[in-house]
Amino acid sequence: MSEIVERLTAEDRGAEIARTLLFPYLNHAATMLASGYATRDDIDAAMRFGCGYPVGPLMLIDALGPETVINGLQELHAETADPLHDPAPALSNLADVGATPEGSEPQLRRDIETVGVVGTGTMASGIAQVFAQAGYGVVFVGRSQEKLDGVVSYITKNLDRAVERGKLDEDGKSNVLGRLTGSTERESLADADLILEAIAEDLDIKKELFADLDRIAKPGAILATTTSSLSIAELAEVTSRPGDVIGIHFFNPAPVMKLVEVVSAESTKPDVSETAKALSLSVGKHPVSCSDRAGFIVNALLFPYLNDAIKLHEAGGGSLEEIDAAMKGAELPMGPFELLDVVGNDVSLAIERTLVGQFGHPGWEPAPTLVQLVDEGKLGRKTKQGFHSY
Ligand code: CAA
Repeated sequence: MSEIVERLTAEDRGAEIARTLLFPYLNHAATMLASGYATRDDIDAAMRFGCGYPVGPLMLIDALGPETVINGLQELHAETADPLHDPAPALSNLADVGATPEGSEPQLRRDIETVGVVGTGTMASGIAQVFAQAGYGVVFVGRSQEKLDGVVSYITKNLDRAVERGKLDEDGKSNVLGRLTGSTERESLADADLILEAIAEDLDIKKELFADLDRIAKPGAILATTTSSLSIAELAEVTSRPGDVIGIHFFNPAPVMKLVEVVSAESTKPDVSETAKALSLSVGKHPVSCSDRAGFIVNALLFPYLNDAIKLHEAGGGSLEEIDAAMKGAELPMGPFELLDVVGNDVSLAIERTLVGQFGHPGWEPAPTLVQLVDEGKLGRKTKQGFHSY
């Protein structure tokens, strides 16, 4: 903690960049806490376990001292006149807000033995790996045999790396692979106790899937989505069992990032929310709870910061390398442009547009360079060219 405080209060160019990008993020976290959207512990845990930050934003405000953050924001606001840089009234009065209510460990209120995963992309593959490694039987469904093979080779590669590093033996690897069953038929999900989808981030495509899962899934099965931006309630509505529908949002890369955001819509039954949390714990993840609002906790805090980094670069505030280095200097695991390339510029642009739709802040309008890169098909690591080349 002391290193990051030292960095953020230093007088060099890197520290100045880090303050310019992190203080608005801290301002937003204070506003989120004061609004009652999530608890202090969950907001801090979300950024630590979802993005690998060394400390959560509220802990960081405490460590820096609210006055330092308020003064930094006032300076920034004097330059930009952006209302998002106006220090939130909550900043000076955070100590007593949003404590986690006392409660017992969440329990699996429904029996979960077999997990269905729909999708074959990076998130679906990673999620299938997580459940198989934790001992669950996993049925994963994709549109072609080739795509199913892709999931197995993704997981095999990760397991091989674990074997090389001595974290798993060959038997362990075969056991994990043996728990995976691929299918091109959604009907194969009929016996699953929980079905989690990670298909395209498109409401109509997901609605069609949920209506079909409602037809296929057995009574009492939980229907979950790992959407990062769409409304859980709108997916629940197309089923005859809205109480069984929930968001279980994993982070990229799913086998590594410890966070799961458990997103309950108003219609979600309490035993479903509790089971989703207990299930996340049982696969070694750290669940946080929030309600059904665009961006949930992490994306609402992370993507405005990533967008600000692009805008800072556009305004001549630093090269891509300089800004990436400044943020890693402030102890973040990746620079903003490195992370944008991992997430995918198309995904980032979609998230930013959803956030503007939800919150209406003009200051969060996607940076022109992001829009341009997406138009040019430069989506990040997956196309070998994004902000950086691979
Ligand atoms: N898949 C599976 N395992 C992976 C992996 C991948 N893609 N990348 C790395 N790993 C594993 C490695 O095998 C290694 O495992 P062991 O410790 O068991 O040996 C471990 O992760 C650490 O890897 P490295 O030492 O190679 O790399 P690192 O220390 O640089 O850490 C990182 C890599 C964990 C990804 C780290 O850079 C990090 O935390 N980055 C931030 C990622 C982030 O912010 N993600 C959130 C994106 S936003 C999102 O996902 C939400 C959304 O809705 C879009």
